[in-house]
Amino acid sequence: MLKIQLNEQLSISKLVVGCMRMNDWKLSVKQVVEFIEWCIERGITTFDHADIYGGDHRNEALFGEALQLEPTLREKIQIVTKCDICVPNAKNPNVKTRFFNTDKQYVLAQVNESLDKLKCGYIDILLIHMFDLLVDPSELNETLQQLKDEGKVKYFGLSNHSPLEFDTLQKYTDVPFVTHQFMLHPLGIQNYHNGTMTHCLKEGISPMIWSPLAGGRIFNPTNAAEENMKNVLENIRQELGLEHIDEVVYKWIFRHASNPAIVLGTGNKERIERAIKSVDGVQMTREQWYKILIEAGYTLW
Ligand SMILES: NC(=O)c1ccc[n+]([C@@H]2O[C@H](COP(=O)([O-])OP(=O)(O)OC[C@H]3O[C@@H](n4cnc5c(N)ncnc54)[C@H](OP(=O)(O)O)[C@@H]3O)[C@@H](O)[C@H]2O)c1
Repeated sequence: MLKIQLNEQLSISKLVVGCMRMNDWKLSVKQVVEFIEWCIERGITTFDHADIYGGDHRNEALFGEALQLEPTLREKIQIVTKCDICVPNAKNPNVKTRFFNTDKQYVLAQVNESLDKLKCGYIDILLIHMFDLLVDPSELNETLQQLKDEGKVKYFGLSNHSPLEFDTLQKYTDVPFVTHQFMLHPLGIQNYHNGTMTHCLKEGISPMIWSPLAGGRIFNPTNAAEENMKNVLENIRQELGLEHIDEVVYKWIFRHASNPAIVLGTGNKERIERAIKSVDGVQMTREQWYKILIEAGYTLW
């Protein structure tokens, strides 16, 4: 399994396990341990969390209980987590509406809570989950520097920021952002339209792509355009001699020169094995790649 070197000290696996849906997998703590071990054996060593994942924000805690049961796992993996989204939740009775918060006090408290839940001493990569329009970039810089100095977070990145938002925060931040996590799939190509993929090339950043299969909509079209895309993917699957159209989608994402990582949403081992297979082997032609982009709604000229 290929690794992606994000800087001289830090590498992540090209496939990352997304833990957003982990509570749906109905695993016991022991089964989470076995699942993490199974992933590590296959070279998948990076796990993506957020403070808010899980209906009751419990997914970090479930993962942490697994690390507590088998502490040797921590040094074999990279943990990514995120903060700044506030949502109404039984745990936060005072939050009545959704908003973003990058205030120092809030970010520091959220990181402490994530560390408590994950039952570990440090986070490998902390991402600012969404662009906070009220951000004070100098204050955010102080916050990130403090987290680094205290050894609580090793590296930082952003998620769902436009190129302008990314550059603005980076301008005021002393630590270089090591990655940018955002959505990309054949039913949602706005990050090609708005230049975010090209921005990664310009900055030499490998992105982390979330919802590669549009949350499963790729397989269950809800309108004519989505039905058409499923047919296009099926034709290319046959041309490439692949087993399943999920491999076509993964290969389409991997084809970009920014060297993306894919954050998988499935906990199904058979589906993960296919994702692993898609990293190597036959490559999509330029024509096949552009066919998907155009059918997704991109106008070449
Ligand atoms: N930074 C952000 O703002 C952000 C936002 C959203 C997500 N994320 C990250 O990205 C990760 C992945 O997102 P996602 O879960 O939306 O990914 P996804 O891969 O687009 O969707 C996963 C869903 O598709 C289903 N699926 C996968 N393969 C399938 C197949 N062959 N046939 C039928 N259904 C299939 C899965 O069901 P099964 O489980 O049954 O396979 C699951 O319900 C998350 O876990 C999270 O870590 C980040």
